[in-house]
Amino acid sequence: MKNKKFIIKILEKASEPVSGESIAKKLGISRTAVWKNVQALKKEGYQIETTHKGYRLINSPNFIDEEILKKLPYKIYYFKKISSTMNVAKELGERGEEALVIAEIQTSGRGRLGRVWISPEGGIWMSLVIKPSFSLKEAFLLTYIASLAIGLAIKETTGLKIKLKWPNDVLYQKENEEKKLAGVLLEIKAEVDQLKYAVIGIGINVNNEINSFEPFAVSLKEILKKEIKREDLIIEIVRKIQKYLKMSSEKIISDWKKLSSTLGKAVKIIQPQREIRGLAFDLAEDGALLLKTKEGKIEKIYSGDCIHLRY
Ligand code: BTN
Repeated sequence: MKNKKFIIKILEKASEPVSGESIAKKLGISRTAVWKNVQALKKEGYQIETTHKGYRLINSPNFIDEEILKKLPYKIYYFKKISSTMNVAKELGERGEEALVIAEIQTSGRGRLGRVWISPEGGIWMSLVIKPSFSLKEAFLLTYIASLAIGLAIKETTGLKIKLKWPNDVLYQKENEEKKLAGVLLEIKAEVDQLKYAVIGIGINVNNEINSFEPFAVSLKEILKKEIKREDLIIEIVRKIQKYLKMSSEKIISDWKKLSSTLGKAVKIIQPQREIRGLAFDLAEDGALLLKTKEGKIEKIYSGDCIHLRY
């Protein structure tokens, strides 16, 4: 681990290729060990050329700078590659820790409703594990808090027009088109009626490439035509979550409503057993989405996939 860091430092400073032998001497390791470390660095995304004179660093990947995140009041667990930040966060929650788990790449990222969440390098893939003094009934507020914090932080740091889709998608709106920039996955553990811990999983398409089979997704880089500094966004989101955690449910819901794209729209809600259509006209005090059906019936929706209809 340390050797890789030192090799990068040596190569960054050098204007000429550096021989394996001189690196080996500086670190007190064998030339084979240097070679092995260089191969590992290449796997992490460093572009290192091997010439007859030695190694030359061509390009460094743009990793998240852990040091900057230390400004936050949570312990940071940073991984280059992991199955899912949710798994680590849950283990920490079980141990009673509060922390922020971040990964550059997730190999088994999870989305809502059992979907796969594609998580290549360049995005923000993180899980915040917290122990809020919330009752089980209040847990729904966490999804509103998270999507609101992401939406506001993106809006403030980029100036883009951001909207929220019920229950917790962050959308970029351009004329009549809405595309998904980010999503939230909430997993909780409760004991009797109190939350033991909550894991707020946040996935944001920032500098990552979007797959062609995800036509409704977009990244900040695609919209802004430039890469953005992920650390600033992470810090802003976590600070906003902390701020909203101290606020009343009325304030959280009213701020969410201000950014909502769903309210006022005809929607289709898909649930395992049924599909309901209606006008999404408000959020209830308990967090449910209120729908008015064609027959004039009011339905309270607590979960499901929400699709905005264009009529
Ligand atoms: C959604 O379906 O919209 C929610 C997506 C949540 C993805 C994030 S990325 C970080 C964390 N780890 C996961 O495996 N999922 C969440």
